[in-house]
Amino acid sequence: MEDKNKITIFGATGKIGKELLTFLSAAGITAIAVTRNKNKAKEMPSVEWVEANMLSKATLYNTMKNSKVVFLASSINDNFVEEQNNVIEVAKEQGVTHIVKLSSPGAVKNSPFFIAKLHFEVEESLKASGLSWTILQPNSFMQNWLGEFSETIKRERKIYEGTGDGKKPFIDTRDIAEVAFKILTNPAEHSNQTYLLTADEAVNYAEVAEAISNAIGDNVQFIPLTIDELEQRMKRKGMPPLMIQTFIAIAEGQRQGKATFTNTIVKDILNKPSRTIHDFAMDYASWFK
Ligand SMILES: NC(=O)c1ccc[n+]([C@@H]2O[C@H](COP(=O)([O-])OP(=O)(O)OC[C@H]3O[C@@H](n4cnc5c(N)ncnc54)[C@H](OP(=O)(O)O)[C@@H]3O)[C@@H](O)[C@H]2O)c1
Repeated sequence: MEDKNKITIFGATGKIGKELLTFLSAAGITAIAVTRNKNKAKEMPSVEWVEANMLSKATLYNTMKNSKVVFLASSINDNFVEEQNNVIEVAKEQGVTHIVKLSSPGAVKNSPFFIAKLHFEVEESLKASGLSWTILQPNSFMQNWLGEFSETIKRERKIYEGTGDGKKPFIDTRDIAEVAFKILTNPAEHSNQTYLLTADEAVNYAEVAEAISNAIGDNVQFIPLTIDELEQRMKRKGMPPLMIQTFIAIAEGQRQGKATFTNTIVKDILNKPSRTIHDFAMDYASWFK
């Protein structure tokens, strides 16, 4: 058997995982990158792609046989808890010592929010597993703006959100990935810690519109929606009711000024300030033009 000196990345094709691979690859650390479909794999030095499905335990053994450290991320779906628990169980059987789990803020017992509740259940399994762990609870990603949000900016030069003037310390996925990289490569220092990850500063959508306007050299306007209008928009898109309920609660919180909390965990771990909306807007300007 080879030395267990590799790092296994679940969610390797996702928003955080793909950034994490760039840090690992640049450092020459061998990463086992997991995907259900290798056609999505991006070849990079020192990255080995392996096909597996977290829902099928049998496919997971191969992904962790040469790793001591694992990054656990995946998208929310009806089987989310089972999928993530499968990874934790196989990790234990395969001699993994530390898991870094991507969770979400507010993952507490009896959370009224569907997504946070699922993450809480997995956090509990991880804590009970006997493995060493680090839990990352990042704030909303700036890169969430690279979907429909960027499309309406491209088409209409408008941002539609239901958060009023409320601010939030949106975080750049590259910062989350870099924090994960630091922890995966030095897990002992972060053993059994839960880190709420925020940017250094909270901002509102008028400020986001201004940052993107500056980056693309054209005026982008923030159009505040009422919560009712927000709900109607999500219903028209066919989003499931539980998701709509969660996203409304998140928007309400920000609108009421309850989402402004910041800390210095990112800054302290990275030893530099977090990326700002101005950095984000400049780096991703082509998405908004
Ligand atoms: N967006 C936010 O603002 C935010 C904030 C806080 C926390 N989060 C949490 O972030 C997590 C998502 O992370 P992300 O945005 O980096 O991922 P993402 O872009 O949503 O991509 C999902 C990843 O999960 C993998 N995956 C899903 N089901 C799988 C399965 N059955 N077996 C193997 N791989 C599977 C996918 O791999 P393949 O498709 O290649 O197989 C893909 O790499 C969620 O748990 C969410 O709650 C998000």
